[in-house]
Amino acid sequence: MDLFAGKHLDVARHAASSLGSAASVLRFLMQPRDLAHPDACDFLAGNPQEMAMPEYIDALQRAVVPDSPSYYGYGPPWGPATTAVASALGERLGLELDPQDIVLTRGASSGLALLMHALIDPGDQVVMMSPPWFFYEAMVLAASAEPVRVPLSEADFSLDPDAVEQAITPRTRAVIVNTPHNPSGRIYPEDQLRNLALVLEKASARIGRRIYLLSDEAYARILFDGRQMITPGRFYGATFMLHSYSKTLLAPSQRAGYSAMPPSMPGREQLRFVLMAASLASGTVPDTVMQRAMPELEKLTIDIPAIERRRDRMVAEMRRMGYSLASPEAGFYLFPRTPISDATEFCDWLAERRIYTLPGEAFERPGHFRLSLTASDAMVERALPVLEEAIHTFSAARAT
Ligand SMILES: Cc1ncc(COP(=O)(O)O)c(C=O)c1O
Repeated sequence: MDLFAGKHLDVARHAASSLGSAASVLRFLMQPRDLAHPDACDFLAGNPQEMAMPEYIDALQRAVVPDSPSYYGYGPPWGPATTAVASALGERLGLELDPQDIVLTRGASSGLALLMHALIDPGDQVVMMSPPWFFYEAMVLAASAEPVRVPLSEADFSLDPDAVEQAITPRTRAVIVNTPHNPSGRIYPEDQLRNLALVLEKASARIGRRIYLLSDEAYARILFDGRQMITPGRFYGATFMLHSYSKTLLAPSQRAGYSAMPPSMPGREQLRFVLMAASLASGTVPDTVMQRAMPELEKLTIDIPAIERRRDRMVAEMRRMGYSLASPEAGFYLFPRTPISDATEFCDWLAERRIYTLPGEAFERPGHFRLSLTASDAMVERALPVLEEAIHTFSAARAT
């Protein structure tokens, strides 16, 4: 789909074509619709439907009050923020992290953009798993690099380290992996990540160039059923671990996150300097208020059991209706199969009834659709009968 078809654009061709790669999701996210309508059921993205947590607001309110004239000045990242992040993240991931190896960012997407800028040269290849998060390709293209896809397994979205190995060429510079995975909700198990690490070690030696692993861990704290997050950074030194408060605190427009390097990162002294300089030059540093609140924000999470209960209710109800779907291990999303192969047509039908979801085409998996569990319980109640009507309508149409 050409997002800009028929429009005269006085912008870089480069920008138009990289953004065009996200056309199928932008079409859904940017189309006019009345999400404020009382009947609207917003399953589109991980967006809050209820007021932000009072503890979160309190932390921001405290952080807004300056304690010195330089409080709102330019400057290096606030030391207590990187120290708090290194210790809390290190404990969660089982790594000894140095505060100097933390770069504060404006969320995971800003961390990714920063790393692409700092690590990728024009003509490099970046391997990404498919289904990918819908803006990876745009970011790779914006770096004048070439995206190379490796499919996750059809059955359960597992990583395929052998396929990654085959995709690597002398031009490969980075591999993006996303765990817990959006949209499937898979947490990659240790054996798959260890195998991936072995593949990347061998391939880096073979091509004579360090292949960086960009581990997008935006959902690392939205875990269900007592599961644990495992970072590939434990097994592969050249890993950047990207984290975000967007999901953990469900306040994604208030931008903050970080990228962390493990102590085993090769050449980390130089990388520290380059990333710090690049983050200052590109404006990916979070605002003072977010930096100052960070030690407190690190301790907060949204009500994950509430999301888990919503997952259980929707999975049980949708399976009863005849949808085929896995129960996610983590993250915000259900990713059921659609009763027809054209998921866009199916999602358009739901949208006409004010049930807003994303079609699998946005994730390179037609035949599926994505629903965010951040919808309110009231939205779920209103949507369930419409989802039931949808499966009957489309199954009947297919049978005739
Ligand atoms: C897999 C993945 N990576 C990155 C992001 C971007 O996160 P942030 O808001 O922290 O930039 C998202 C947001 O939906 C995501 O799902």
